[in-house]
Amino acid sequence: MLEMRGITKRFPGVLANDGVDLTVLPGQVHTLLGENGAGKSTLMKVLYGLYQPDQGSILLDGEQVEIHSPNDAIARGIGMIHQHFMLVPTLTVAENVALGLGGRRGLADMRPVRKRLLEVSEQYGLRVDPDAQIWQLAVGERQRAEILKALYRDARLLVLDEPTAVLTPSEVDELFITLRQLTADGKGLIFISHKLHEVMALSDEITVLRDGCVSGHTRPSEATRESLAEMMVGRPVVLSRSVAPQDPGDAQLLVDSLVVMGDRGTQAVDGVSLEVRSGEIVGVAGVSGNGQRELAEAIFGLRPISSGTVQIAGSQVAEPSPKAVRGMGLAYVPEERMRHGTVGDFTVAENLMLVDYLHPPYTRRGLLNRKAITDRCHGLVDGYNVKTPTLDTPTKHLSGGNIQKVVIAREFSADATVLVIAQPTRGVDIGAAEYIHERLLEQRANGAAILLISEDLDEVMQLSDRIIVLLEGKIMGQVARSAATVTEVGLMMSGVARAD
Ligand SMILES: Nc1ncnc2c1ncn2[C@@H]1O[C@H](COP(=O)(O)OP(=O)(O)O)[C@@H](O)[C@H]1O
Ligand SMILES: [Mg+2]
Repeated sequence: MLEMRGITKRFPGVLANDGVDLTVLPGQVHTLLGENGAGKSTLMKVLYGLYQPDQGSILLDGEQVEIHSPNDAIARGIGMIHQHFMLVPTLTVAENVALGLGGRRGLADMRPVRKRLLEVSEQYGLRVDPDAQIWQLAVGERQRAEILKALYRDARLLVLDEPTAVLTPSEVDELFITLRQLTADGKGLIFISHKLHEVMALSDEITVLRDGCVSGHTRPSEATRESLAEMMVGRPVVLSRSVAPQDPGDAQLLVDSLVVMGDRGTQAVDGVSLEVRSGEIVGVAGVSGNGQRELAEAIFGLRPISSGTVQIAGSQVAEPSPKAVRGMGLAYVPEERMRHGTVGDFTVAENLMLVDYLHPPYTRRGLLNRKAITDRCHGLVDGYNVKTPTLDTPTKHLSGGNIQKVVIAREFSADATVLVIAQPTRGVDIGAAEYIHERLLEQRANGAAILLISEDLDEVMQLSDRIIVLLEGKIMGQVARSAATVTEVGLMMSGVARAD
């Protein structure tokens, strides 16, 4: 139904698409896979008429077409669900669907729109209240409204740009059921994701982009997660590692009966006790919003403790503050690296030195030792594979993965006794995630006591010696990795307690 041939699209200084071919058949899910910046969104914006290609052609049902605007695309049966939703927040779902259809938006016009909307919504299992205003809807519902809007306009070919990035696991399952119904109905889908298990589960065809070029084309039956990752990154990537058992040492982080309030005045952490020993990774699993962030912030002294205690390296934290706990030997990689982990306007060098610059050898007799600072920063940038033009580049100009590597380089090089690390690879490319995991295991081998908080269950299962599941601020269960299965931990995450 669709053939894109030799699409080339340049931006100043960037070749975003370099002779890309893509063929999509009706009734199929064609996945576009690639790391951040590979050119996926650009290719789809060319298809949707948002960009004009510098070279190449687009054929629909064998006929060459020119798509000058989204209206052109829609008229030809192409629908697009953007990475960032495009609905008008103060209008209802039905009004959003009616927008741009022509005619007055009076009540008289809305009745048939509502009726047909309910039919389409029924047909594909897309539950949305047509009379709800967009701002009232949860993210998953907004997405369903976007899909409905495209289907209402008789889209035959639907582009979904990273639709699962904003969804919870159960919303993803629901979306996939809808998508399968759409293909069963003969629609063609272009699905963009970099979550490999999703890609393997949903795709009929997979085209991989790297640096603007097609680096491979395959199908799930012929591919593995490893082979896909290699096509994305351009080198072999270790996705699942077996971590050698290691006898842990003494408890270095002791949390006892901790109670912490959340932002909305409810108890976010409700009597949590845990210990992390030297040379051990304790993973905290759970759907985010179950007290993980508040637990980490309380341990780091960023959030007041209502009751209970925290001990670091054998001493109780008397007056919690980031400065005090750092002094006691704790390093912290926060969930929100843009807000808490780095200062965006500071350079890479300044962010790397944020904690250490006042200590020798970097400051001597009140003077900054530039040579020592530059040497150390070069060492960290090389050692942690941070891709930055210079040490003086403001951190906000780096990609998310590279900002994360700056934070990790700084915190992991602090020789801390205890490491608290939250969502270390969220939004990070596969290659960088592999790197971060290697470094985390290196810290474990060196005897750090590591509390790893992550929504990514695969990550927790792979790296942790013990796994704790947090639900509504309480510890739902605790298992050794050797005894845990994904199903079992998943059940605990949803509130089904472990049998023993
Ligand atoms: N409007 C734009 N202007 C300049 N450069 C852009 C623009 N859109 C994308 N790029 C660049 O093109 C490349 C591909 O981006 P994109 O298509 O968004 O990648 P992906 O969707 O695969 O993450 C990146 O280097 C990006 O910085
Ligand atoms: Mg994109």
